[in-house]
Amino acid sequence: MNDTRPIITIKSLGPISVNGDVILLDENGHEIKHKSRFSLCGCGKSNKMPFCDGSHKN
Ligand code: FES
Repeated sequence: MNDTRPIITIKSLGPISVNGDVILLDENGHEIKHKSRFSLCGCGKSNKMPFCDGSHKN
């Protein structure tokens, strides 16, 4: 099996891990550059939105 689909993992009250080739857009449709593996903030506490900066641990 050669599944190349991106994998998105949602953690309760924490980061949303993204692994794979995806296009990330802001609310205006502008592309946000990112690495092939990154985490989006799902808690609302990050100072580096839309990415997780670890603030959910506090
Ligand atoms: S999920 Fe929000 S800072 Fe990590």
